[in-house]
Amino acid sequence: MAGKKGKVVLAYSGGLDTSVAVVWLSEQGYDVVTMTADVGQKVIDLEAAKSKALHSGAVKAYIFDLKKTFVENYVWPSLKANGMYQGTYPLTSALSRPLIAKTLVDIANREGAVAVAHGCTGKGQDQVRIEVCATALNPKLEVLAPVRDWHFSREAEMDYAVKHGIPVKATASSPYSIDENLWGRSIECGMLEDPWNEPPEDAYELTANPLDAPNEPDFVEITFEHGLPVALNGERMDGVSLILKLNELAGKHGVGRVDMVEDRLVGFKSREVYECPGPITLLNAHRALETMTLDKRVLITKRELEVRFAELTYEGYWFSPLRDCIGAFIDETQKYVSGTVKVRLFKGQAVVRGMKAGKTIYRHDLATYSEGDAFDHSAAVGFIKIWGLPVRTWTSTFPRDDKEELPIEA
Ligand code: ARG
Repeated sequence: MAGKKGKVVLAYSGGLDTSVAVVWLSEQGYDVVTMTADVGQKVIDLEAAKSKALHSGAVKAYIFDLKKTFVENYVWPSLKANGMYQGTYPLTSALSRPLIAKTLVDIANREGAVAVAHGCTGKGQDQVRIEVCATALNPKLEVLAPVRDWHFSREAEMDYAVKHGIPVKATASSPYSIDENLWGRSIECGMLEDPWNEPPEDAYELTANPLDAPNEPDFVEITFEHGLPVALNGERMDGVSLILKLNELAGKHGVGRVDMVEDRLVGFKSREVYECPGPITLLNAHRALETMTLDKRVLITKRELEVRFAELTYEGYWFSPLRDCIGAFIDETQKYVSGTVKVRLFKGQAVVRGMKAGKTIYRHDLATYSEGDAFDHSAAVGFIKIWGLPVRTWTSTFPRDDKEELPIEA
């Protein structure tokens, strides 16, 4: 018998919460269609998720490999914008939510569903992002959040699961809340909630402890074309492979561990730990290459807009007019960002050690102090006269009184 309330499309991870959500939503009178996305999380068995969804009572279970779409439509725009929330967090989880929301909405439109649903709790920001993004794409859809609404205790949820034949793992679950994709891994909760506690080694999976990392550095050359990385050490590869490869190379050297107190959209501060070896390496390289290829004033304005871009992404405003406008500005700047950056990976750091660009406004003949200097030294005289005019005028009108005594002569 078809559900009397119509269809709902649920973002389904295959875990306990979303499996219980399938049963719970069905009991509320919905026909549940699930959507499971591979965005590069390490442990995902798409086929197993599909059969578990159907076993839990879903009327249909979609599975998608969204890695390429994720990279091209979400990660790359963010890299071009040097996307880092509060200057430190590469927006790992925040970037996957608009994609998940968009996929839910696309399926809902195709299936004629009345609602979409997710398994986020009522405290995080992922709920905000998915809901704001989904309704930005289709304001007519309802968004359901069963985990936020059902008020089960952990024990009650387990009982409910067992009663409905959903397998509950006997093994102790991770003490952390983890979210993972190609652009990194977010780790929160447990003992990390006390900012005084050093994150224990068992929190990390993608990165070596920098203290135990190899004693010899690795160098990697990253080639960018129009702001996007296209080759590693001269070998051209697609975006997904390039990020995976860099995660491995940089992770081995302990690069990309981020430990911060973050200002959450939902009003409180939260201690957050991330592992983003490839992203941190790429962001360092990209930002450096821009210093060599972009005009001074473009660079200044871009850095200001980057802060706005990161906030908009973090706050769930991916599908918004301001993000579109900033994106257009950023795309225009990236036409000029092509070249190769040499990065040293060593003991937790990805440090730029050299760069070159075919077409660049870095002019050696202007910069050099040696033979071949093309800079017009005599023009400095008139330039300084006019450049210093405002402060000279000021002082002759309001004499200065800087109280700093000469040091005693040695
Ligand atoms: N604080 C991060 C963010 O809001 C990480 C969220 C991770 N999500 C999770 N379910 N563990 O982007």
